[in-house]
Amino acid sequence: MSGKMPNLLFCLWNQFVVFRYSCGPFISHSFPSISKVVLSMSASNEVILSGIRPTGRLHYGNYFGAIHHFLKLQEGDATCFYFIADYHALTTITERKDIYRQTLDMLRTYVACGLDPARSVVYRQSDLPCTAELSLLLGMITNIGHLERGTTYKDKFGKLQDDPRTTGNPLSYGLLGYPVLMAADILIVKADVVPVGDDQRQHVEMACDIAEKFNHRFGCEALHRPKAVGREALRLPGLDGSAKMGKSDNNTLDLLDDPKTVLKKIKSVVTSTEPLPLDTDSKDPEVVVPKLPGGLNVLYQLLHLTAPDEVFQDFLEQYRTGGKFYGNLKKTVAEHVSKFNEPIIERFNDPAINDDFIEDFLRDNAKKVTPVALDTVEGCREAMGIGRSLYRA
Ligand code: TYM
Repeated sequence: MSGKMPNLLFCLWNQFVVFRYSCGPFISHSFPSISKVVLSMSASNEVILSGIRPTGRLHYGNYFGAIHHFLKLQEGDATCFYFIADYHALTTITERKDIYRQTLDMLRTYVACGLDPARSVVYRQSDLPCTAELSLLLGMITNIGHLERGTTYKDKFGKLQDDPRTTGNPLSYGLLGYPVLMAADILIVKADVVPVGDDQRQHVEMACDIAEKFNHRFGCEALHRPKAVGREALRLPGLDGSAKMGKSDNNTLDLLDDPKTVLKKIKSVVTSTEPLPLDTDSKDPEVVVPKLPGGLNVLYQLLHLTAPDEVFQDFLEQYRTGGKFYGNLKKTVAEHVSKFNEPIIERFNDPAINDDFIEDFLRDNAKKVTPVALDTVEGCREAMGIGRSLYRA
């Protein structure tokens, strides 16, 4: 079958699967202030896909850049696929004991945040090994120069080169091919929408380019081109005042941080700059926050994301009038962040969501996504001329 999977098949397939566990009521974080960062909701029959690498605990960038949208999108009637990108994690994880543990914990955090197994198909990337096959096929038509120009690749390469522990050529084939594997993740389920933070925008564009090139080269419609990521995608700054909060930069605020840790981290944000005149009268956090100096912008952004708007407006007014209020600002941000984390931590520690539950859950979900994925891979094999597989384990 080429092109998009007929909707009827999707419906039948969805009805066919029965979950072994019915999660209780899920946590809902309905702060009015975060509604602005929601991507446009999908129309019916759309396919949504996104993934997160299991490289440690989920941080606020992951949550508001991605998971927040996963939760909103699963409320609509789209088919949602969310996965843990454990193959991708192998490009940076060196401790083999960590990866499986972190995958299970990441899944547990997904569920603790409110991802509903009855509404979303949540699986582990490596449980869909035909993704690797599609990645190999896509690699045949992907230009190396295109990959070398990728900003994430250049950034990681630079960091590896600067790291004194690095010896010899630090580059792996996996690191260079990272966007090809990511394209395979997206294209294998024929995704329409890929909710990600701003840092992943270029990778999604590469997936679009690869799909187009493949269809053009082989004169087919085997791959479905997803929508590009909108300009409104979030890039949350790091607690160190740098442009991006990221796991490898040790500048994150995590969803599982307890109140003591939250306060310590927030207090450590450098706010040495006295309030400066803002060249806008706007009260809109989207307009104002990027104009604030490093350090303060992350504090105000966190306030915007976790506190009611009147609290944000009150501190914005204090910034405009000047004075000594940074101590109070930090205390308030820490309180709202801890309040936000509390139900997530509670659910994460729920003994019912243990490793057995998570493993059963992953097994069941892998079975759900496999037929869709195989359909795409077989279509690509056929388009490329090697023909459909004669045997699949
Ligand atoms: P990863 O694990 O680095 O990040 C997961 C998600 O979190 C978002 N994110 C942020 N958003 C806003 N501000 C930040 N500071 C911030 N930091 C992280 C990321 O944009 C992402 O949405 N390559 C992906 C994983 C992946 C994937 C895919 C995603 C593999 N295959 C297919 C979508 C589709 C990654 O490294 O995510």
